[in-house]
Parts: sequence; C-alpha cells; structure tokens
Amino acid sequence: MSELYREIIIDHYKNPRNFGKLKDPDINGAEDNIVCGDRVEWFLKLDSAGRVKEVKWQGEGCALSQASASLLSEMLIGKKLTEINKLGVKDIYRIVGEKLNPSRQKCATLSVEALKQALTKK
Ligand code: FES
Repeated sequence: MSELYREIIIDHYKNPRNFGKLKDPDINGAEDNIVCGDRVEWFLKLDSAGRVKEVKWQGEGCALSQASASLLSEMLIGKKLTEINKLGVKDIYRIVGEKLNPSRQKCATLSVEALKQALTKK
C-alpha cells in the first residue's frame, strides 16, 4: 500500500466519517468476519424517491475494515439501492487505493459485504 493510501486509511480509522446509529432506519444489516470477529453494521434512511438520504455505520475491527466503511459511507448519499447493489470488490479496491494481498482483501470488503447483507433485508 502506498504511503498516501496508508495515510488515508489511518485518517479514516482514527476519524471515522458517518460513524454511529440511526433510529428507525429503512435499511439495517451487518456482517462479521468469522475469522477475526471484526464487524460492520449499516443504517440507511431513504427519501421518497428511494435514494439514500442518511447513512451511519458502526463497527469494530482492524484499521482497513473500519476505514473502508468510513470511505464507503461517503459515497452512499444520493445513491439508489440499485446503484448500491452494483458495488463490488473492484469498487472497494478503487476506494482503498490499490489491489490488496489476499490476507487483507476480506478486511477491505467487509464493509461492502455488510451493506449487501443489509440490502437483502429490505
Ligand atoms: Fe478482521 Fe481485518 S483483521 S477484518
């Protein structure tokens, strides 16, 4: 990981954006990494057009899993669920900067897997 992306990850880990819970979310769901126990949970509220109007997340775990959720949360406002459903591993790699070695891939994708899990409950 380059120095720039390392700094971005550490900044988002130490100062997570949109961290917290929403009361009465339209969408809520979580995913755990069963290997390490790290977790990300999403809370989304939608406007009348079905676009995300508020987003919060909470979680615990390694810097990459938590920073990825923070970075992802900044992309979600205004998105339709169909757009969110199209997000995948490549988008996460783009967000965190570059392709990761296999041991870190699950860390980076935990947030998007949690988001997909939340959407299945909609
Ligand atoms: Fe658990 Fe990164 S070490 S998700």
